[in-house]
Amino acid sequence: MLNQIELRKKATQVRQATALAHPNIAFIKYWGNQDHALRLPVNPSLSMNLGALHTQTTVTFDDSLQHDLLTINQQTYASDEPAYQRVCHHVDIVREWANIATSARIESSSNFPVGSGIASSAAAFAALSVASSAAAGLTLTEAQLSQLARRGSGSASRSVPTGYCEWTLGNDVDSVAVSIAPPDYWDLQDVVVVVSQEHKTVGSTGGHQLADTSSLQAARVVGAESRFNACREALLARDLARMGAIIEEDTVIMHGVMMSSHPPLYYWNAGTMRIIQATQQWRSKGLPVYFTIDAGPNVHLICEAAHVQAVVKAAKQLPEVQDVLVSGPGGPARLI
Ligand code: DP6
Repeated sequence: MLNQIELRKKATQVRQATALAHPNIAFIKYWGNQDHALRLPVNPSLSMNLGALHTQTTVTFDDSLQHDLLTINQQTYASDEPAYQRVCHHVDIVREWANIATSARIESSSNFPVGSGIASSAAAFAALSVASSAAAGLTLTEAQLSQLARRGSGSASRSVPTGYCEWTLGNDVDSVAVSIAPPDYWDLQDVVVVVSQEHKTVGSTGGHQLADTSSLQAARVVGAESRFNACREALLARDLARMGAIIEEDTVIMHGVMMSSHPPLYYWNAGTMRIIQATQQWRSKGLPVYFTIDAGPNVHLICEAAHVQAVVKAAKQLPEVQDVLVSGPGGPARLI
């Protein structure tokens, strides 16, 4: 009798874990892969986690489920939708590592708006990796979690460790991100200036696949390592003027590759250009602020905490600006 109860308990076993992760902003950009399936990048990258923003994900492996269920920001996804397939493919990797076949309920929500110019996939796949591996009974090292997150979204590898992170080249096991400085090392702020909330037609995954069609990509990759080293050095020296010049150059070179790909990817709009020019004007008037731009039109203004109010005020005066979000450095992806 007891055995039967035990068996029934086992048959409906539920294992659940919840994790939280921050998105990150890249100072040296990841653009293009050596291996698209494994997301092994062609150049090293460097970033800061954004502590004010987060994604929280709960994964429940439940024997009573027939198939995976996915809810993102209260919206349920059908099995033929790309987001469902991408997330379930990621959970498949975890099932393979844990040697289980159980279906899962995946519930995720973020405190930042979609279309705000924040790459949501980084926080999403970092949180999903931490939650799903724990729920599956795996105990992974930070490096293994970064590796796992990278397979879901390259930039997610950098949302696993704390603070300021570098993601270097390597094979599937060693191309992972590590922290180079904790959040309190330097109070840099990212002022995200939203000039468009439209959904982009070509996302990062498609973009990485086009990188090699640009004749500028080879030159970008050759120069990326020295920009990476110089930016890393400037960051560790807390030298914003030196770092700012490098991050702006790195952004513009990446967008040069995007715009000269076949077909071309024009992520900028008129508002983007307006903010770039305004940043140069603010700087000439003594406000130390620098821009960086991901795969979209919105601009991330990087400054020290002492100048964040002045930057927000200046940005809000521009008619092109629809919204402004502010974040300082953030901690690692973690179970909660
Ligand atoms: C421009 O990590 O979003 O933001 O691996 O296909 O999910 P996938 O791409 P993703 O690419 C990020 C591109 C970037 C630069 C960066 O964050 O380094």
